[in-house]
Amino acid sequence: MSRLRVVQWTTGRTGSAAVRGMAGHPALEIVGCYAHSPEKVGQDVGTLAGLSPIGVTATDDVDALLALRPDCVAYMPFRPDFDHVVRILESGANIVTTMYMLAGDGYGENVRDRVEDAARRGNSSLYAGGVYPGHAPMVALAASAMCTRVDRISVLESLDMSGYRNERMFRAMGIGRDPGDPAVPAMIEANCGSFKDQIRVMAHALSVDLDEIGFTAEFGAADRDTDFGFMSVRKGQIAGFKGTVAGIRAGRSLIECQFVWKLGHDMTPNWPVQDGYVLTIEGEPGVQVRLQPLGPHFDGAATTAMPAVNAIEQVVAAPAGIVNRMELPFVRGAGLLTP
Ligand SMILES: NC(=O)c1ccc[n+]([C@@H]2O[C@H](COP(=O)([O-])OP(=O)(O)OC[C@H]3O[C@@H](n4cnc5c(N)ncnc54)[C@H](OP(=O)(O)O)[C@@H]3O)[C@@H](O)[C@H]2O)c1
Repeated sequence: MSRLRVVQWTTGRTGSAAVRGMAGHPALEIVGCYAHSPEKVGQDVGTLAGLSPIGVTATDDVDALLALRPDCVAYMPFRPDFDHVVRILESGANIVTTMYMLAGDGYGENVRDRVEDAARRGNSSLYAGGVYPGHAPMVALAASAMCTRVDRISVLESLDMSGYRNERMFRAMGIGRDPGDPAVPAMIEANCGSFKDQIRVMAHALSVDLDEIGFTAEFGAADRDTDFGFMSVRKGQIAGFKGTVAGIRAGRSLIECQFVWKLGHDMTPNWPVQDGYVLTIEGEPGVQVRLQPLGPHFDGAATTAMPAVNAIEQVVAAPAGIVNRMELPFVRGAGLLTP
């Protein structure tokens, strides 16, 4: 059976994990790679991902990459380039991405319509995965099938994030700011657009109409100065937070995406960390699912990248358009079980 031809779009934390996941994958073949960083152009993709060379060179030549006629692009840059997204879809290549908002409304109707139109023109589809938003809520949706009645479904990501080493992301989420800074809740909420999209996808999947989507946050202030190696947080600054994005109907919170993100544990309040995902379905019967690492920690880059990578076969087969708002694929580790 011929393998699906994939172009990897950027090799940052998540993109490199995707390359490591695709190298040797029985159903996928990396045929090209886009580099945003000029110094990566001309380098071997395997080397960029921390592997031995695989004989594929990174380039910033979009036309050359599309001329490879890939079945799919694994689109994982830090920020979207909507022109690139449109060109990829128009060319007939499908997209899987960890940028969850690309499949939703968070970038505005204009962007969503451009993406949808490009997919229709190219007869291609776009699916946004990742672990959260993305795969963990899909596991919760699957568990809801065990119930006769669902009162509330909630997903909690509870992690010490100090291993993620992404200062830009942490600063954007208010880490290092004053807990009393009135701008911080709005900063975090502005960066939670993808979780609002996730709530909409879950509401659609559960056939419920919501009145509104709300957001609340509490902050943990650092008990002491700490240098995490990639950034420092001083005593009294925000070192962690607990946020809830809630889908509300008739004044009741029905669907919740919660996260407790901490840099270390020296903070007040010091919420306990579950080291994973807690999926809770209140109802009849009540059900709880925990996604926890067998080792000491999840490799967050891998758990983010692989739900997108492992969706490629189904996304290539999906009808044209944005997949998340139609039929969610049952993403699983097909082909990964080795004898
Ligand atoms: N759903 C989830 O579970 C989840 C979890 C984590 C992250 N994410 C999303 O996954 C994506 C990748 O995250 P990451 O942590 O891997 O990102 P990252 O390592 O910070 O950046 C990825 C790559 O983006 C490129 N880049 C850097 N600055 C850029 C800019 N200004 N505009 C466009 N591209 C730029 C670089 O490409 P080069 O490789 O060429 O240097 C970089 O390596 C993000 O959209 C993030 O929000 C999703």
